Amino acid sequence: MISLYNPYISKNTLKNVTNCIKSNWISSKGLYVKKFEKLFSNFTKIKYSISVANGTCAMHIALLSIGIKKGDQVIVPSFTYVATANPIKYIGAKPIFIDSNSETLQLDVKKIEKKINSKTKAIICPHLYGNITNMEYLLKLKKKYKLFIVEDCAESFGSYYKKKHSGNFGDISTFSFYGNKTITTGEGGMVCTNNKKIAKLALKLKTQGVATRIHPYYHDIVGYNYRMTNICAAIGVSQLEDAKYIINKKRKIFIKYKNQILNNKFIRLFEETTNVRSSYWLVVIILKNKNIKKKLEKYLLNNNIETRPTFYPLHKLPIYNSNEKLVVAEKLGECGICLPSYPGIKTKEINFVSKKINQFFDEVR
Ligand SMILES: Cc1ncc(COP(=O)(O)O)c(C=O)c1O
Repeated sequence: MISLYNPYISKNTLKNVTNCIKSNWISSKGLYVKKFEKLFSNFTKIKYSISVANGTCAMHIALLSIGIKKGDQVIVPSFTYVATANPIKYIGAKPIFIDSNSETLQLDVKKIEKKINSKTKAIICPHLYGNITNMEYLLKLKKKYKLFIVEDCAESFGSYYKKKHSGNFGDISTFSFYGNKTITTGEGGMVCTNNKKIAKLALKLKTQGVATRIHPYYHDIVGYNYRMTNICAAIGVSQLEDAKYIINKKRKIFIKYKNQILNNKFIRLFEETTNVRSSYWLVVIILKNKNIKKKLEKYLLNNNIETRPTFYPLHKLPIYNSNEKLVVAEKLGECGICLPSYPGIKTKEINFVSKKINQFFDEVR
């Protein structure tokens, strides 16, 4: 089976994890946590990096740190992973779903303005599949309506907009280091910001709301235990050493697919948009309709190729059921397939996947 994703694990990963275990520092105290945060800031050039247990709690902390409260409204695309929106619900705020841009797969920024009202406090823009939202437009909206911008960079580690790493544009940003992410810590996440005050609150919230300057057990706000373990951070340190190599590999994977399937008129292949340098988290194709998509998925599986569908639009989930029609999000959700895109995939495997895709269309035509 050609897997959709396998993490890239180096010898240093094993060495760092062994160091951790031998040193007894296996919980969230230990040298690797601070080191990972520092190296992460060096890589992204975002001033403050606060490690957490996963990307979902990173978003929870991010929203609390900018002051989102019960009853507030937060704008978010429907076409994203559910963890972009669930933390809005944790707080008792309301997600307001927006359609996506069919050319970029990202939040359709032009559709936001008519949904802004006095309760709107923030816009979350997930940068999906390595591509990046139109930040120029979003920053204009931010200024005009005095909103917070939260970048969900779970899928955009290693992606740049106008030569700046994702996560540098909004008030706060979040990353995920789940096993299928561009860099991984097994489970893990990061909250990042260039704002000192926001960073201070984020740190406090993830560590039980403790006011250490008063007493190690003095808690003046209700916080959480969202800490990353030293073992996870040890993996993260080694991943950052290999980050440039991994990103380079992933860009090459995209080009190899592109060279072989771009001319297939039954497929839309998504490339980075203007001003973006993508890390191509997963290579995505969109088919003409859901029947063709289902048949192709099955055909590839029968040929031992693992794929993954694109996201189910959130506004159609029973937990959100917003009873509206978001045409692009629905189409992207119904007709998209992610192809095997992991750094270690061999050229001959990419060739095989591409050949099978082209063969499928020769056969159904
Ligand atoms: C866009 C997006 N946001 C948030 C998350 C949540 O991250 P985690 O799985 O680390 O909680 C993910 C990935 O899983 C994601 O793809």
